[in-house]
Amino acid sequence: YRTAAVIPAAGRGVRLGPGAPKALRTLNGTPMLIHAMRAMAASRAVSLVVVVAPPEGAPEVKNLLDEHALPQRTDYLVVPGGDTRQESVRLGLDALPDDIGVVLVHDAARPLVPVDTVDAVIEAVRDGAPAVVPALPLADTVKEVEPGEKGAPEPVVATPPRARLRAVQTPQGFDRDTLVRAHETVALNGEGATDDAGMVEQLGERVVVVPGHEEAFKVTRPLDLVLAEAVLARRRA
Ligand code: CTP
Ligand code: MG
Repeated sequence: YRTAAVIPAAGRGVRLGPGAPKALRTLNGTPMLIHAMRAMAASRAVSLVVVVAPPEGAPEVKNLLDEHALPQRTDYLVVPGGDTRQESVRLGLDALPDDIGVVLVHDAARPLVPVDTVDAVIEAVRDGAPAVVPALPLADTVKEVEPGEKGAPEPVVATPPRARLRAVQTPQGFDRDTLVRAHETVALNGEGATDDAGMVEQLGERVVVVPGHEEAFKVTRPLDLVLAEAVLARRRA
């Protein structure tokens, strides 16, 4: 069985501010999506990349991908996405050919994940874990609050012990059938799931964590663009 990477890239990037859809914004001249695809294709285990494009942007994304070569061993497909990340991932899963046994789901918004992290996730799935997430310990203490009126102080409900918490990244790796079952079973409500492994947890399946990497951070807000371009510049130095 082969391994594929599904890249949800259909989001608008509201928190990044006005401009092109986030995945098409550039880092040092190259679209974030291209960086993310190269990061997946850098793993010799990944033979197919499925890009889930902004709903009306699939033709534009196809052109972009024809301009930026991937390694010859890597095929790619482009499918249009949905209104939520959960829907977009599902549309990507629907496009997988039959011979795919292991699936990575990787945010286009994490363009700089190192190949060693990708390989560690794939290896843990091949070793038998149905779901694997890369994650890091937190720097900040986290508090659970009771959200109230906008702008009003929010009462604290709990302070979970920081040492047991992990900030979750992508690529998350799955046994294909397990992830498909999760997407078929777990209902889509509101904003949908922001984390595929969380859906597998709802099935009662075992989810394990492997070490993540600082450079796998998500580009969410404008400051993250500054950091991402600095990381790229350091790599080239
Ligand atoms: N995503 C997607 N389809 C959606 C929403 C999000 O494919 N309908 C993808 C994004 O393109 C991104 C990843 O899911 O690669 C993580 O989402 P996030 O960082 O929240 O990106 P956006 O939703 O684009 O950003 P924002 O929430 O600020 O609008
Ligand atoms: Mg979002």
